Amino acid sequence: MKKISTRLHAAHLLMALTLVLLCCMASAQINPYQYTINKMANGSKGAVSSAHPLASQVGLEVLKNGGNAFDAAIATQLALAVVYPGAGNIGGGGFLVAYTNKGKAISIDYREKAPGSASRDMYLDKDGNPLLNLSQNGHLASGVPGTVAGLFASHKYGKLGFAALIQPAIELAEKGFVITAAEARSLNGSKSAFEKYNTVRPAFVKEKAWKAGDTLVQKDLAATLSRIRDNGMKGFYEGETARLISAEMKRGGGKISLEDLKNYTAAERDPIIFDYKGHTVIGMPMPSSGGLLMQQMMKMIEDRDIASMGFHSPAAVQLMIEVERRAYADRAEFMGDKDFVKVPIQTLSSDAYLKERMKDFIPGKATPSDMVKPGKVNPESDETTHLSVADQYGNVVSVTTTLNGGYGSKTVVGGAGFLLNNEMDDFSVKPGVPNMFGAVGKEANAIAPGKRMLSSMTPTVVLKDKKPWLVVGTPGGTTIPTSVFQTLVNIIDFKQSSLDAVNNPKFHHQWLPDQVMVENDFPKSLQTSLEKMGYLFTNRGQIGRTEVIKLEWNGKKVKSIEAVADKRGDDHAAAY
Ligand code: GLY
Repeated sequence: MKKISTRLHAAHLLMALTLVLLCCMASAQINPYQYTINKMANGSKGAVSSAHPLASQVGLEVLKNGGNAFDAAIATQLALAVVYPGAGNIGGGGFLVAYTNKGKAISIDYREKAPGSASRDMYLDKDGNPLLNLSQNGHLASGVPGTVAGLFASHKYGKLGFAALIQPAIELAEKGFVITAAEARSLNGSKSAFEKYNTVRPAFVKEKAWKAGDTLVQKDLAATLSRIRDNGMKGFYEGETARLISAEMKRGGGKISLEDLKNYTAAERDPIIFDYKGHTVIGMPMPSSGGLLMQQMMKMIEDRDIASMGFHSPAAVQLMIEVERRAYADRAEFMGDKDFVKVPIQTLSSDAYLKERMKDFIPGKATPSDMVKPGKVNPESDETTHLSVADQYGNVVSVTTTLNGGYGSKTVVGGAGFLLNNEMDDFSVKPGVPNMFGAVGKEANAIAPGKRMLSSMTPTVVLKDKKPWLVVGTPGGTTIPTSVFQTLVNIIDFKQSSLDAVNNPKFHHQWLPDQVMVENDFPKSLQTSLEKMGYLFTNRGQIGRTEVIKLEWNGKKVKSIEAVADKRGDDHAAAY
């Protein structure tokens, strides 16, 4: 357990204690003015792992109060929208992958959509040059938010009333919470962007620099959340909140209309399900590339004995880099919203295709990306956040949700207090032009009204012996699928603990640019061995913030639940 540096000043402490005594937090156990960070927690009745201690605690309280994993996932997401504004959201979108104690695999798509007046070339100037500032910042960068619809779509699997799930978030917004050193740094780093891209000064801007222990109060956000509590989905997609969004769009030149909001729906979809060495992996289908990329990468290594090569051996890492390269070449060419384009999923995931894909793999030698074109298929038919939840009944829920970049478009809806996403940049604004993650795309991911932009989010559930075993996911833009891939291979093939699997240094290859991105602590000797094979490296600082929950079973009953939170941030594991 690491004490965070949000120790309160004496006066602040007095005020905090008074507030704690006076106010009746829905969850009496949670003190938003002083909290610690746990990286690992064990229990047998329930667990939540998320990007923020207060959000994980909110989820755990819901489980203790009789809610199931779906309830806890909803409450945790809502709390993250308050305490982790860089990525937690109600103005963005996300995906949920779950497995119920009735044996049902579920995926819910609440990805943002392009507004009705969006057009294919909306981010090109008259000479056809990309205007990436517009797809990445400010009002025009936002897709129609999906998160609130997703929370209500998930709620049909929950047990508690929605009001009980949203109340902790309302109170955190209304009464405030102390921020961590990381949050203070992050808010200070975005101050000039907040000043530039807002028409109304948001709660995130103050004269003096933020510091650890300051209290962030978000009254407008509390009012918006209260409207959702009182009016359900209409509290966001219609009425006052919709009016405020539409007015903000008009002031700042954005495209989201009242009609776009009213028409937004989440979609329950058939998850991607495949076997890997006797385990069943359940992943997110299009419009996320995550599930299919996982299937491609895992299947391309399945018949090779990667365990005997050794963890972080040059041979094992080279193999993983090469399958990452090949899968991402397919992502760029073929993947997009399958409600709009034909994605040849059957071919891309077939054993024969993936075997063919590996035919030009040469152990000990890099395959240049310009030799790895997308595969032949016959016409056929950084900032995001993840939470993993498990309950004592055997339900598990894996949710990844996003505003896209840190604080999304940086635009807060005036009077409504929440940030809007900059998810439009996940479309291919022009074939071959890299987005903010350096990823390229083509026709399959071109902009069209009402279309969902391709995602990399990879909320994942793994079954062992037909029972939920692992609940995994991470933020990280295009690095998400490769981080989840490596975490699973670390656990399944290299027999690592969840903690080691999460914290060990990650690497990433996405076809283009033809470079291996690595974390600061990626072993230098390993890098040197791979450079000799022809690989180019670039340092990426940190990759992902992975949250893993692992369950053990005693027959039909959950025996133990272990929650792990990534060392890379304020991420917090809670269990009981
Ligand atoms: N915005 C990151 C993703 O959806 O992949």
